Amino acid sequence: MRKQIAAANWKMNLTYQLGEKLLNDILEAEIAISDNQQVIFAVPFPYLIMAKSTVAHEKGYDIAAQNCSDKKNGAYTGEVSVEMLQSVGIKYIIIGHSERREYFFETNKTLADKVNICLENDITPIFCCGEALSVREKNGQNDYVQKQLEESLFHLDQDKIINVVIAYEPIWAIGTGKTASTQQAQEMHQYLRSVLANKYGHEIADQISILYGGSVKANNASELFSCPDVDGGLVGGASLVAQDFIQIIKALK
Ligand code: G3P
Repeated sequence: MRKQIAAANWKMNLTYQLGEKLLNDILEAEIAISDNQQVIFAVPFPYLIMAKSTVAHEKGYDIAAQNCSDKKNGAYTGEVSVEMLQSVGIKYIIIGHSERREYFFETNKTLADKVNICLENDITPIFCCGEALSVREKNGQNDYVQKQLEESLFHLDQDKIINVVIAYEPIWAIGTGKTASTQQAQEMHQYLRSVLANKYGHEIADQISILYGGSVKANNASELFSCPDVDGGLVGGASLVAQDFIQIIKALK
């Protein structure tokens, strides 16, 4: 069975001290994580080493970065390379979050480069896709999200795509409290899996974890994660509250 993942995206929130406390409060719940489950905390760059050491001995828990440069190294002031992240033990990186696409003008081509550099360094990209409300209102979401996958992922061979985690995050549900309905979530996840199957075959498509993101909360996670093609969630606001994220972890299949 493909990995069921509860991923926290802290975004640009918390101090070092509050982040360390949040991690320890969650770990103190001692939630049993099975072999096909994974909990990931995507924390700001300055907290990566602290977070890695905090979860170091916790089976099923790991840390992600929220971004990386598409460049290998060099004169790119302020950027952080995959090689730097790998050197501090990072194995997951969120790639193409809608906020980076919007505020930092990341294109599908740039994101293809970031996915490549992650995979070249044995890092799992958590590739984000999703449509704006204006696209959904025209019922154009399937074509829009399929294009994001085709332009950023479909250059990959079977042995590479199998290492990618996909996160479907309808932009209109991010931070709004307007969670996609279970029907909307399952329909899109099933569609994405069918697009992956058309490209790579069903055996590969069935092994790829597709997370849902967009107002996942303690009170809706179980219903969302019960959908056959929803393999967990990428969680923003609710991941900043220990008790809420504990409930979300417990909701994993
Ligand atoms: O990456 C996850 C994030 O975009 C979802 O945010 O606050 O709607 O859970 P939120």
